[in-house]
Amino acid sequence: MAKKEKEINPLWGGRFESGTDDLAQSFSASIDIDKRLFEVDIQGSIAYAEILNVANLINSSELKKIKKGLNKILDEIKHDKFNWDPSLEDVHMNIEARLVKIAGTAAKKIHTGRSRNDQVATDLRLFLKNQIDEILNLTILLQKSLLKKADENTDTIMPGLTHLQIAQPVTFGHHLMAWFEMLSRDYSRLEDVKKRMDVMPLGSAAISGTRFNIDRKFLAKKLGFEKISRNSMDAVSDRDFVLELASSLSILGIHLSRICEEIIIWSSSQFSYIHLSDEVCTGSSIMPQKKNPDMAELIRGGASKTIANLMGLLSLMKNLPLTYNRDLQDDKEYIFSSLDFTKDSLELLSLIIEGMEPNIEKMKSDCFTGQITATDLADYLVEKGIAFRKAHEIVGKIVAHAEKKKVQIFELEISELRKFSKIINEDITNYLNPQKTILSRQQVGGTAPSQVKKEIKIAKKELIRKQS
Ligand code: ARG
Repeated sequence: MAKKEKEINPLWGGRFESGTDDLAQSFSASIDIDKRLFEVDIQGSIAYAEILNVANLINSSELKKIKKGLNKILDEIKHDKFNWDPSLEDVHMNIEARLVKIAGTAAKKIHTGRSRNDQVATDLRLFLKNQIDEILNLTILLQKSLLKKADENTDTIMPGLTHLQIAQPVTFGHHLMAWFEMLSRDYSRLEDVKKRMDVMPLGSAAISGTRFNIDRKFLAKKLGFEKISRNSMDAVSDRDFVLELASSLSILGIHLSRICEEIIIWSSSQFSYIHLSDEVCTGSSIMPQKKNPDMAELIRGGASKTIANLMGLLSLMKNLPLTYNRDLQDDKEYIFSSLDFTKDSLELLSLIIEGMEPNIEKMKSDCFTGQITATDLADYLVEKGIAFRKAHEIVGKIVAHAEKKKVQIFELEISELRKFSKIINEDITNYLNPQKTILSRQQVGGTAPSQVKKEIKIAKKELIRKQS
């Protein structure tokens, strides 16, 4: 059977005698993924056309037609009236082909001195910079909800855990502020990524730069870029900015996952440290009593995607020779997936935190288990002049004695304690009561309510600074 005549791509088909095979065409089309870049692509083309005009490569009437056409396309896409054609491969060619239809010959000049290689690198940087801003704002939203809860719980005591075993009493506010700190680092990492991303590749053309008199610095200014790239070959093949963002998002992802893990543990009936709002839980189709922390579990599970996407991107890049290779087209699928997950998760986690109510009584009563103030007893001995190692050994023996009696060390009589060290006196009670011991952690970074209140104050100022 005779093969159907394939249509030749009008934007690059000059040297071709036949169109692309159907499978090759659908295999290489990226429009379903990269159409998200339409807004920055149009923004880039408008600025580029203005610069072409400055360089006398297009006249003012052509510029006018191009701008009008691009704005019309923007409107069509926003109102879902644009016909995306997979045979035109990607967002850049779809928009250019439509522009030619609207603006005619003028539109055929827009690609002067420009290649899709520098175009896509520019679009992606513009797009990701905006996305980073969105993520920074959502991070602040989550931090705000943490601050509010922490503020309400500076005096709520709970067991602090190491190895998931009861270790020392802490305040719930202090624990929440630990999460706040993790997110502050994510915030500053993303700011750093954005700084290095803020370089404009446009003007690099396909690989070697352009012969046309394009004012790259002016173009960068128009597009809001801080700097311009210094090497055209690097500029079209570099995707470090995608890798760095994916890496920062995977660190943020594991933070969200770890926070959710604790939320899941605390909301279990065995722990019962917190109560989650109905809004973020689901039931079981068979067990009528169930209320499951599914959203927290989906964030914990979904964070794997941020790690997988980073691995995908690293694998994609590792063997690529300079300069542009079509492999690079796949970068978007990975990074978009990480962005989508991160934005939804930050918002959802803020909702979880807002509706999360601590079970103050249960948290407190667990502080009276697990020989939780054993370290404070050792500290007491140290303050009375005993070397810490020796004190550790004495307290170890006291703990063993208490465990044998199935009591807590604070339940032992003073006379019993004195059998292990004559130094122990009545004043020991302040060191054994978890509610008293937390008050002593007054150093910067400590769990004492007064200290946590100070940190909350600093954190509030920090958020105000970030939002201004
Ligand atoms: N869709 C392509 C990408 O995202 C655009 C660049 C195509 N360049 C080329 N020389 N085929 O990477």
